[in-house]
Amino acid sequence: MSRLDLSKNLSTIAKRARAPATSASNVYTAPGSNFSARVKLGMQPWSHSLPIFIPRDAKAPSRMEDVSAAHWDEKWSVEQIRNATSANVMLTWAPSKAKHGLPIITHGEGVYLYTSDNEKLLDWTSQAVCNNLGYTIPTAIKSAVATQLDAVPFVYGGLGLTEVRARLSSLVSEILPPGLTGCLFPSSGSEANEAAISMARRFTGRTKVLSMYRSYHGATANGAAATGDFRRWFQPSQGDYVKVQGPHNILAKLNGESEQEKVVNCLTMLEEQILYEGPSSIACMILESIPGAAGCLTYPDGYLQGIRALADKYNFLIISDEVMMGWGRTGTTWGFQHYTDSSGLGFVPDIVTSAKGLSAGVLPVSMVACSDELLSFFEENSPGYGSTYSNHPVALAAAYETVKHVLEHNVVDKVAAIAPSFRQNMEWLVERHPSILQSRSVGLFGCLDTVKPSGEIPQHGHEGRCDAFSTYLGAMRAEGLIGLCRPPLIHVAPPLVISEEELADGFMRHSRALEVLDRELGF
Ligand SMILES: Cc1ncc(COP(=O)(O)O)c(C=O)c1O
Repeated sequence: MSRLDLSKNLSTIAKRARAPATSASNVYTAPGSNFSARVKLGMQPWSHSLPIFIPRDAKAPSRMEDVSAAHWDEKWSVEQIRNATSANVMLTWAPSKAKHGLPIITHGEGVYLYTSDNEKLLDWTSQAVCNNLGYTIPTAIKSAVATQLDAVPFVYGGLGLTEVRARLSSLVSEILPPGLTGCLFPSSGSEANEAAISMARRFTGRTKVLSMYRSYHGATANGAAATGDFRRWFQPSQGDYVKVQGPHNILAKLNGESEQEKVVNCLTMLEEQILYEGPSSIACMILESIPGAAGCLTYPDGYLQGIRALADKYNFLIISDEVMMGWGRTGTTWGFQHYTDSSGLGFVPDIVTSAKGLSAGVLPVSMVACSDELLSFFEENSPGYGSTYSNHPVALAAAYETVKHVLEHNVVDKVAAIAPSFRQNMEWLVERHPSILQSRSVGLFGCLDTVKPSGEIPQHGHEGRCDAFSTYLGAMRAEGLIGLCRPPLIHVAPPLVISEEELADGFMRHSRALEVLDRELGF
């Protein structure tokens, strides 16, 4: 908020605070406020008046008859929903006035969402890349949730164990590479990274955290500080976070004749950074194995392996943030499996965090898994992290059945099978639309880079969305698509259960919406 806005807000608050003072009986005079001693001896304090306390209406109803009867109506009209939204709903990230343009989602089925305006919208980004199973939730998941609610809805993780917590921990450790055996389950991706960073610091006794500029790791203190994109700027900057430039040719042209040479140059630069930071101060490096919000960036062969080697040399830990890419999104269970050779040997982190696809968005739950070494260290030491709803049994029941569903129905293999057709369609958009510079995709996750006729970037991520993209988003909706667009990037990530026909239909709709973007950007 600018200084100007702030002073405007403060003066409104002050006016409100002064208003009731007209009623003398309302005024409470703080003890000592009449005190006005005039003493010559310099040892006495100055005469001083404390501010006057203005009582405010502190009534908070506790009975049904004191709140609106409409809360007991079975259904609300669109007008009631819009009115209550106008009055009370706030958005996260975006300024809240954007809420007025949001659709009212009434229900979902398959890969479609339905709105109060009778629109049928194909979900083109699985919401925030989390509703991997779409909207027809498998019966097993729904009944696991109901069964857990009946058995015991909540157990505080420090006071008791539950069967589902033991089962999910055991299943997750079987799904991770050997040696990653310890598990805890917070509620969001941000919290998982919060826990992971705290664990890395406590385990190593060091404080510095390396991370990539092109990354997002969450909105909480450590997650935000580790984040490289502009969302970090919303929080005060924290010391002990060091940002690294990845090996991607996005704006800068990296030096090196071959990919291999570029990788070696980038790793050498990173090692130099480590040496200048002081290797003994570095607790961990946190990275997305495939940066998602940053634009579906895969690392060139050898880069993550090189980071593993540096971590081993200087004894810091690697946290792989699989919050967006975990659980099959990329055609493998984990994103980091893309850096493996044909014999299955490759890059393995010390800590893995995940969320989103873990419960396919059904209930909020995330995961931190760690190596045997960390597991035994934390037998004797606190991870320095906890929250009331960590290991929530109902959320774990949803996660456990989701993971089992993904295994039983070969969801990961199906994503790998449909991935080539997804990639072809992404490339088709590049060919057809001058406003699309290039595409990248892995599994069912893809990103389009937009471009102006001059060859420049239409806008940077931190800049407010320009009119061209707002008009394009309107065209998406008119074409029956709902999805995320963070200019200059356009993400495509439909639910993992999408069929070939639905995919082809989605790309046709997307292409028609992109015709609008072509025009709006001046092609
Ligand atoms: C890679 C990554 N890490 C962490 C987060 C934060 O997760 P959450 O929004 O559940 O807190 C996200 C969210 O998009 C993410 O994509």
